[in-house]
Amino acid sequence: MRALQFTRYGGPDVIEWGEAEDPHARPGQIRVAVRAASVNPIDWKRFSGAMAGGKPMSGTGYLGYDAAGVVDEVGENVTGVSAGDDVWGLGQNTHAEYAVLSSWAAKPPSVDWAVAAAAAVTGETSERVLRLLDVASGDTVFIDGGAGGVGSVAVQMAVARGATVIASAGESNQDYLREVGAVPVLYGKGVVDRVRAAARGAVSAVLDVVGKTPVEDLISLAPQPSKVVTIANFAAGDTGVRVTSGAADMQPMAALAQVGELLADNRLVLKVQTFPFDRADEAFRISQSGHLRGKLVLVP
Ligand SMILES: NC(=O)c1ccc[n+]([C@@H]2O[C@H](COP(=O)([O-])OP(=O)(O)OC[C@H]3O[C@@H](n4cnc5c(N)ncnc54)[C@H](OP(=O)(O)O)[C@@H]3O)[C@@H](O)[C@H]2O)c1
Repeated sequence: MRALQFTRYGGPDVIEWGEAEDPHARPGQIRVAVRAASVNPIDWKRFSGAMAGGKPMSGTGYLGYDAAGVVDEVGENVTGVSAGDDVWGLGQNTHAEYAVLSSWAAKPPSVDWAVAAAAAVTGETSERVLRLLDVASGDTVFIDGGAGGVGSVAVQMAVARGATVIASAGESNQDYLREVGAVPVLYGKGVVDRVRAAARGAVSAVLDVVGKTPVEDLISLAPQPSKVVTIANFAAGDTGVRVTSGAADMQPMAALAQVGELLADNRLVLKVQTFPFDRADEAFRISQSGHLRGKLVLVP
C-alpha cells in the first residue's frame, strides 16, 4: 500500500506518498480501507522534528491520527462491526491507503467521508474538554481560537449542551464564528475586555485551544483556575489550569458515538477542504500557517 512518510525532519517537502508495509488489526482493533483522513497540527509538529526532543531522526515516520473508511479486517475481541461496514474513528498512521483504528463509530450514511474523518480528533478532543469543564445548559463558555478544527467543533458541541459560547478568531473568521453559533470576538490585545463585554455576566468556563493568550488573562475570566482547560499551552500546569493531552482523560468510543449523533442530526457541521494524498504538502503548508477555517482533509 502507499502511505505518507518521512525519513528526515523539515518542512512539508520532506513528506512522500510512497510504498509502506500493510498494517494489520491487532486484538481490539479494526483495519479500514481509507476514504479520508484529516490533517491535524500534530502531523507537522512530528515531521518538523518539534516533538523529537532534540533527538536525530531514525527510521521512517508515518502520519495521521484519524480516518473514515470501509472495514476490511476485524481484530480479535471486536464485536459489533464487520468487514464492509462504513466507519470513522481514531488510530495511528492513518494517512495511508489502509489504516488501523483503535476507536470507531458507524458512519451515518448522510455524512460525507471527509466530514467524518474531520470529526474524529476534533470531536474526541471537544467531548473531552467540555466534560472536564463540566459544561452544561445555562453556562457561558469562552473558547479562545474558535474557527479552526477543534475550536469550530467545540463551539458547536458546547452550544448543543445548551451553553452560550463566546469565541475568538481573526478578522476574517468573525462571520464564520457566528455561523457555528458563537458570539465572536477578536483575539489578541484586549481580548479579556471584549469577552467580558460580550458575556454580559460571569463566564463559567474557558477553553484555550491555541495557547497564545497569556494564561493569567484566561484565568482572570474564569471563576477559578480549574475552570480553564488548555490543549495547547503545556507550560500552564503549575497555574492550576487543567492541561489535557489525551490518554488518561480520553473516553474515545463514547465521544465518537456522541459526535456521530450530532453529525447525523446536523447539529455539528464541519467546513472541510480536501486534497489528494499526493498533494498533502499543500494541506500541511496551510495547517502550518495557523489560520484555518474548519478542517483540511486528505483523500486517496
Ligand atoms: N491536547 C490535545 O489533546 C490536543 C488535541 C487536538 C489538538 N491539539 C492542539 O490544539 C491546537 C489547535 O488545534 P486545531 O486542530 O484546532 O488547529 P487549527 O485547525 O490549525 O486552528 C488554528 C486556529 O487558531 C486560531 N488562532 C490563530 N492565532 C490565534 C490567537 N492568537 N488567538 C486565538 N486563536 C488563534 C486561528 O484563527 P484565525 O484563522 O481566525 O486566525 C485558527 O482558526 C494545536 O496546537 C493542536 O496541536 C491538542
